[in-house]
Amino acid sequence: MTVLGIETSCDECAAAIVRDGKTIISNVIRSQIPVHAPYNGVVPELASRMHTEWIYSVVSAAFSQAGMNARDMDGIAVTVEPGLVGSLLVGLSFAKGLALTLDKPLIGINHIKAHLYAPQLEYDVSYPYLGLIVSGGHTILALLEDYDNLTVLGATIDDACGEAFDKVAKNYGFGYPGGMVIEKLAERGSSKAFSFPFPSLHKGPHPYDFSYSGLKTAVINQLEQFRNPGYESNAYNIAASFQKAAVQMLLSRVKRAVKELKIDRIAAGGGVAANNSLREGLLNLGNVQVYLPSKSLCTDNAAMVAGLGYRYLMDGVLSPLSVNVQSRVPGFRKAYP
Ligand code: KG4
Ligand code: ZN
Repeated sequence: MTVLGIETSCDECAAAIVRDGKTIISNVIRSQIPVHAPYNGVVPELASRMHTEWIYSVVSAAFSQAGMNARDMDGIAVTVEPGLVGSLLVGLSFAKGLALTLDKPLIGINHIKAHLYAPQLEYDVSYPYLGLIVSGGHTILALLEDYDNLTVLGATIDDACGEAFDKVAKNYGFGYPGGMVIEKLAERGSSKAFSFPFPSLHKGPHPYDFSYSGLKTAVINQLEQFRNPGYESNAYNIAASFQKAAVQMLLSRVKRAVKELKIDRIAAGGGVAANNSLREGLLNLGNVQVYLPSKSLCTDNAAMVAGLGYRYLMDGVLSPLSVNVQSRVPGFRKAYP
């Protein structure tokens, strides 16, 4: 069974062809980073316009790299939620056009579930397992029963982890996108230069939730307050200390979940899962099998969409041609009363 995946939820225009939910036959990603870099962040209006311009050539490239055409597909999977509405609509409308004209099954995909599926493209991870999704829009720790059913154990109550990387980088003019540039700067700095505050959510009724707003504010607005004697306030030290705190927050929740739920498998995904410091931290947890997708499958891609699409296709779970997009999904971000 061969599935075409289309992903346009944010600033990557991507198409991929995957066989039997596992074998990546082609995987095309055209990044809009140069388009958004002058603004230090994704401009939604520009993102949807670029997807409109690029979608045809990106999908065509996925077919030509695979030596296949749309008629060879058994299904068309496309991200429908969560994400930027204008961007999602481009991918969905294109997928609907293909599905309608070629009479192929259409499968609407949840972007977070697709990130959670990404490790299955390279490993056979048996369910249940813990899934940690850390991206520009989400920070979620979940218990996965299978590819479709999950319990969100914790989520961010304010900024997402990747968003904090992006905002800190933007504030200090480090460059865009923030995650990669901060990781690069951090290699040359000391993570001991600043001791940033840690939210004490673990003491309350939501021990697995995350909060990045306080850390972001401390790094941006109260920097000197947290500097340790003998260390300079330079870009390298700011990046290294911030990165350490951001990663520690993730690891502390994961450690707790591993212990309390007695679960010995964890898989990570989302753009921040490409961060080496997080990857090392997870691999060094001990007593737990860690599944980390290749970096190119951590950031947004359509192979994870096609792979997950195959699972739904096998179970006969299809979407009608009237399926719509959604910017948010309840429970994936939290707001305390
Ligand atoms: O999953 P993704 O590609 O798109 C969303 O669904 O949001 O994640 C993008 C996020 C951005 O915030 C970016 O700064 C962050 O992932 N990111 C990283 C790294 N690479 C990308 N953060 C930390 N270290 C990295 N190496
Ligand atoms: Zn993503």
